Amino acid sequence: MSYCRWSEGDLHAYASHTADGVRRYVAQVAEPAIERCGVEAEYVEDSADAFLARLKWLKARGCEFPADVVPQILAAAQEEARLARLAAGELPWAATIVTLYPEMFPGPLGTSLAGRALGEGRWSCEPVQLRDFATDKHRSVDDTPAGGGAGMVLRADVVAAAIDSVADGRPVLAMTPRGRPLTQERVRELAAGPGVTVLCGRFEGFDERLFEARAIEEVSIGDYILSGGEMGALVLLDACIRLLPGVMGAASSGDDESFETGLLEYPHYTRPQIWEGRTIPQVLRSGDHAKIDAWRKRRAEIDTRSRRPDLWERHEGARVQSPSGARRHED
Ligand SMILES: C[S@@+](CC[C@H](N)C(=O)[O-])C[C@H]1O[C@@H](n2cnc3c(N)ncnc32)[C@H](O)[C@@H]1O
Repeated sequence: MSYCRWSEGDLHAYASHTADGVRRYVAQVAEPAIERCGVEAEYVEDSADAFLARLKWLKARGCEFPADVVPQILAAAQEEARLARLAAGELPWAATIVTLYPEMFPGPLGTSLAGRALGEGRWSCEPVQLRDFATDKHRSVDDTPAGGGAGMVLRADVVAAAIDSVADGRPVLAMTPRGRPLTQERVRELAAGPGVTVLCGRFEGFDERLFEARAIEEVSIGDYILSGGEMGALVLLDACIRLLPGVMGAASSGDDESFETGLLEYPHYTRPQIWEGRTIPQVLRSGDHAKIDAWRKRRAEIDTRSRRPDLWERHEGARVQSPSGARRHED
């Protein structure tokens, strides 16, 4: 068996990553090493500091550690610690974007609210070049459509290899007009999670077998066709990032916005009070907050009904639905 010289920094990182790390290290590495050295010792470490003191003590007695064990335990402990920190919301919301155009990220998300949040480490942006997963010398990612027809199709094997290389339990979303339309409700769920991996299509899109073989959520950003999934990914990411804790600031939670309650938002006004002969509705200048709230609610309903009958219908449907799912008559 070969032995490696342990670096104090590595082991300190390891021990402090996880409460279990110290115990596991002692059982898997320190105990056999101590035995080999023939050193008699009491070694029950319950803190990183005590653990480090023990390591120094062992080192002074010439103990070294198996080369293959230390990196493995270190990697496992780091992964365990990363997942625990993700679950505890201590790590940045992570966006990985699989694309043929990594230079498009963070793009506009590097400015304004999202850009500041990126700088503050509230989210991370990792573009991944799809072409790096091609297997031929031409680095091909696409091929002609089975059955003929125009355009090219992204290969399932190449895209799957890219996804597998970044898989860590975050949801994987593919941008495609065939997907489920993105909603504020889904955006909220995604923003509350550890982050997303987004696949950006190009050409005619993805080989369908990809969606059979991997757990991928197909997402559309609307009933129109973009030239690639990158713009859709930017839209999706922007919608999520503004909801991350601390991004919009304490003043706004975003709860009031259109779609949050199933309705469009009420209209806004600001100074000057009279502009081109048009005045701000009197109620908004009244200072009577109950009346203002009632006016806003009413306008949200009127505008949703006239501009988005589809939303209104869904809203009304949900409103008259009893908790058991049975419809009831409105009062
Ligand atoms: C030219 S489009 C492919 C359109 C596809 N052949 C179709 O008709 O459904 C190329 C890529 O742009 C992206 N894309 C285009 N429109 C989109 C939309 N409305 N929502 C999400 N992604 C879209 C997808 O990633 C898609 O694979």
